[in-house]
Amino acid sequence: MQRYVIANWKMNPGKPSEAKKLFAGIKLGVTKERRVEVVVCPPHPFLGELTKELRGSKVKLGVQDLSFKDTGAYTGEVSAPMVQAYKATYVLIGHSERRELGEGNDLVARKVEYAIASGLRVVLCVGERERRDDGAYFAFIAEELTTALAGMKRKDLERLMIAYEPVWAIGKTAQDAMTTEALYEMVLFIRKVLSELFGRAYVARVPILYGGSAKAENAAELVTEGGTDGLLVGSASLVSKEFTKIVAAVGAVR
Ligand code: PGA
Repeated sequence: MQRYVIANWKMNPGKPSEAKKLFAGIKLGVTKERRVEVVVCPPHPFLGELTKELRGSKVKLGVQDLSFKDTGAYTGEVSAPMVQAYKATYVLIGHSERRELGEGNDLVARKVEYAIASGLRVVLCVGERERRDDGAYFAFIAEELTTALAGMKRKDLERLMIAYEPVWAIGKTAQDAMTTEALYEMVLFIRKVLSELFGRAYVARVPILYGGSAKAENAAELVTEGGTDGLLVGSASLVSKEFTKIVAAVGAVR
């Protein structure tokens, strides 16, 4: 079974030379890994440096955000052809830190449609900010999925992945990650929502990843007991040894 481990470097590291070193460490550490697709999403300015490092490696490049147009008067935006010129093949869309800056469901939907049409593989990020006993987070996740995927066609589902990242579990220690029981329940729920949108047979192969304080010590259980297809890793992806241990742990899952 294909698994995924995606590094979300966020706005790190500070310099191109550090990015190159970190990428080299990751590349070296995952050379023998056959069962895991490893993707690194650096800040846009580092793509030029890292694209040169892709040769002879199975590590893929992705970006953390994208515009919804190819060219034009969109100050500060970056388009699909621009990042594809540097061999980026994945894009994170709707990360909670972007939503925090004002990105709403409608903009997320436009970006998803555009990125898919551009031939990129989309990692759609969803996740509730808090959990209350009334279970309102289920409706919240359903809404995020339904609006973001409004323009999605069945034939394009092969280019979609969902990253479920409960915001309250992001950027903490392994002990603060979601319990695998709660994660398993949410993965089933996400599959149910997708099935209702597209039909069961079509969504069986849409990978569902987890993100939120995923570390080497909890990586395997978040996949096996959590029922996920892999992980989206933030802070632990900034230390190549820790990140490659996560990849190895996910690769060892049968
Ligand atoms: P974290 O970040 O691994 O540091 O919790 C995950 C993310 O925000 O994608």
